[in-house]
Amino acid sequence: MTTLQNDLFLRACRREKTERTPVWIMRQAGRYLPQYRAIREKADFITMYKTPELAAEVTIQPVDIIGVDAAILFSDILVIPDAMGMHLEMHEGKGPIFPHPIRTKADSDALTKIDPWKDLKYVLDAVALTKKELNNRVPLIGFSGSPWTLLTYMVEGKGSKNFAIIKKLIYTNPALAHEVLEKLSAAVADYLPAKIETGVDAVQIFDTWGGILSPHDYEEFSLPYITKIISTVKRTIEPIIFFAKGVHYDLTKLAASGADVLGLDWTCDISTARTVLEGKTALQGNMDPTILYAPKKRIKEEVIRILSSYGRGSGHIFNLGHGILPDMDPENAKAMINFVKEESPRFK
Ligand code: CP3
Repeated sequence: MTTLQNDLFLRACRREKTERTPVWIMRQAGRYLPQYRAIREKADFITMYKTPELAAEVTIQPVDIIGVDAAILFSDILVIPDAMGMHLEMHEGKGPIFPHPIRTKADSDALTKIDPWKDLKYVLDAVALTKKELNNRVPLIGFSGSPWTLLTYMVEGKGSKNFAIIKKLIYTNPALAHEVLEKLSAAVADYLPAKIETGVDAVQIFDTWGGILSPHDYEEFSLPYITKIISTVKRTIEPIIFFAKGVHYDLTKLAASGADVLGLDWTCDISTARTVLEGKTALQGNMDPTILYAPKKRIKEEVIRILSSYGRGSGHIFNLGHGILPDMDPENAKAMINFVKEESPRFK
């Protein structure tokens, strides 16, 4: 194993001692950076993540420009349904679209079983090239959507406000939902280890739409599949981060999934989360992304508030509670990162 110049993020994931709190930002490789938009002017989003040279370049941009302690591979969670035959399209201003969403058993039958080494080779090539170009400066994070979050997009066919179609499916034909969730779990359980074997240093499972389920339904349609995936991926030593947005009402249950780190959105208190978890996992988060619209003085106050709310010791990775937005000022993102670097040593 090669040694990383900056392994603060990995040590914090393992709740080992660190001199300061590591920090990165969800969606850090994205449109808020003018350097990203310059590349994006010449290539569409899908071409960008399918071209290892471009994916590697934008993955590394935030390391150089805003000084984050980890890189996250530039890709998308929807590459899995795309590889299963659903043909992902990205429409300017509308987001992801699947032209033939899943509505019937026949639609589920048409999904193909994927071999990540073949069907998602372009992602693995991007991992290998990014690792090479990062040259061990900071760790590289790989990721996947949770089966539930992938299913919401596959059934709705696009982003949704009230999730009526996916909800109708789980209450009228739960067997079909479970059938597709099983297929997705198998795909993710093959995909994440392939990324780890190719070189990512940690993986994050995004359950962005976990919070649209009741606590009861979360335990039927999302958590068991994530737990199963983690038990497969866990054979390796790389840390697993589990970010379930809007699902902080029972963190002990989330921790029982076997994840090393739980991601927190901004609607919960990190101090309470730490107390409840009794050191079972590390924590990542949890600043409200919209604080980045505020003046730097306010951003600094909020960084200090979250650092002191977590309290002394290791096991905290600073991050936003969800992705940075395209109209945010990169200078404010950089200021936030520098405040974490300057203010966190006294909490160690
Ligand atoms: O975090 C990073 O910087 C790494 C790259 C990354 C992207 N998407 C790049 C991206 C990651 C980790 C994702 C995950 C992802 N993709 C999630 C889960 C995380 C979350 O934010 O909740 C989801 C739900 C998706 C699906 C998806 N892809 C959506 C909803 C969108 C946004 C559509 C829009 O126009 O706002 C995308 C597109 C996307 N993914 C962009 C980026 C940089 C914008 C693409 C562009 O340049 O037009």
